[in-house]
Amino acid sequence: MQSPCCYLLSLLLLSGTQANLEGTFTIRLLQTTTFQNTSFVETEGLGLLEDIELLSLDKQTWSIHFCRPWVRPALPRADWDTIENMIMIHLHEFNRVINAGAMQMDIPYPFVAQCRAGCVLYLNRTSQAFAYMGYNGQDFLSLNTKNVTWTLSQDTKFSRYVQSVLQNSTAFTEVVEIMFNETCVDEMKMFLQYGRAALERQEPPVATVFARTPSPEQLLLVCHVTGFYPRPISVAWLRDGQEVPPSPALTSSPILPNADLTYQLRSVLAVAPRDGHSYVCRVRHQSLGSRSLLIPWGNSEVVLIAGLTVGLLAAVAIAATLVLWVWRQRKHQQMEESESRTSILSEEA
Ligand SMILES: *[C@@H]1O[C@H](CO)[C@@H](O)[C@H](O)[C@H]1NC(C)=O
Ligand SMILES: *[C@@H]1O[C@H](CO)[C@@H](O)[C@H](O)[C@H]1NC(C)=O
Ligand SMILES: *[C@@H]1O[C@H](CO)[C@@H](O)[C@H](O)[C@H]1NC(C)=O
Ligand SMILES: *[C@@H]1O[C@H](CO)[C@@H](O)[C@H](O)[C@H]1NC(C)=O
Ligand SMILES: *[C@@H]1O[C@H](CO)[C@@H](O)[C@H](O)[C@H]1NC(C)=O
Repeated sequence: MQSPCCYLLSLLLLSGTQANLEGTFTIRLLQTTTFQNTSFVETEGLGLLEDIELLSLDKQTWSIHFCRPWVRPALPRADWDTIENMIMIHLHEFNRVINAGAMQMDIPYPFVAQCRAGCVLYLNRTSQAFAYMGYNGQDFLSLNTKNVTWTLSQDTKFSRYVQSVLQNSTAFTEVVEIMFNETCVDEMKMFLQYGRAALERQEPPVATVFARTPSPEQLLLVCHVTGFYPRPISVAWLRDGQEVPPSPALTSSPILPNADLTYQLRSVLAVAPRDGHSYVCRVRHQSLGSRSLLIPWGNSEVVLIAGLTVGLLAAVAIAATLVLWVWRQRKHQQMEESESRTSILSEEA
């Protein structure tokens, strides 16, 4: 539990980071347990605040490993001991119940059971707990946090069995109530306070534009944006200065994680070759403030020559005219890929 002072501090912090983090914070505990056979079970566990890894579980001992230096000091030692104990009891109980059910229901081994639980703290200071269970990658059971009952996500003998065991266990119900109704949110407030720098980290995007020619009639303009944090970003194409509206010609990859907790994505616009328009990829991200990153697709001779210089450095050293000649030849033969590396930061009005 925390003092009113800490509570005030965390509310201040919440209002301070409101703009940065879409207004909500989520703590997630993820558990993946592989039941190799009735006697061999492997468990992996992870605790996250938003997309920041806080904790991981030692596979052998089930003890907590702290992923960031500020995580352990955020809670009193006694709280960590309690959490570690609860994890230990939960995992023992989980493995016992699932194994017993699997044997009784003739569930084939090996199989994977997963749990995802945590809480969301909204800016209006209300919070919402959640808990889900999965079986072989499919939703299995979900918890109604209002009345602490489990709903079947798939109706099988096995899911009904696990549901009734969980429902009958008053100890489990109590743990869920305490853990997810109060503790989760209280602890989150402490993590928000201690982990402020990690949550407010800003990494500006790096963007490149290049083209691919899958067929003579089609040019795919690719805007590859990477290295940004946090995750929310806006990437758009401008045709002659006007934003290209959504259409089948405009596609985007999902936002994918990089290994260094930054993100990347690509936005692809299909156009007709030499259609006479100018194209610019525009990137907006909170690390850029009110400015936008503008990366033009290099249709001009100057940019193309600059692009070729990299590939044909030796040729350029011999004769610039040769480069022009090569460029003209290649222009006729379809450019496979060429990069435009001029990017401008623009001040938005
Ligand atoms: C269970 O699986 C483990 C690891 O694959 C293996 O070493 C062990 O012999 C198996 N036990 C049984 C009872 O099948
Ligand atoms: C608080 O915000 C959440 C998410 O926007 C919403 O679902 C919830 O109803 C709100 N609660 C209150 C009491 O306003
Ligand atoms: C618990 O709540 C869920 C939805 O919130 C409802 O579908 C279910 O019937 C409730 N269960 C009981 C036992 O009240
Ligand atoms: C749970 O309790 C109900 C009624 O109290 C009982 O019928 C059922 O067999 C119990 N389930 C398990 C798995 O113990
Ligand atoms: C959770 O806490 C709220 C108020 O803090 C209370 O009204 C509600 O009954 C609690 N729910 C459970 C399941 O304990």
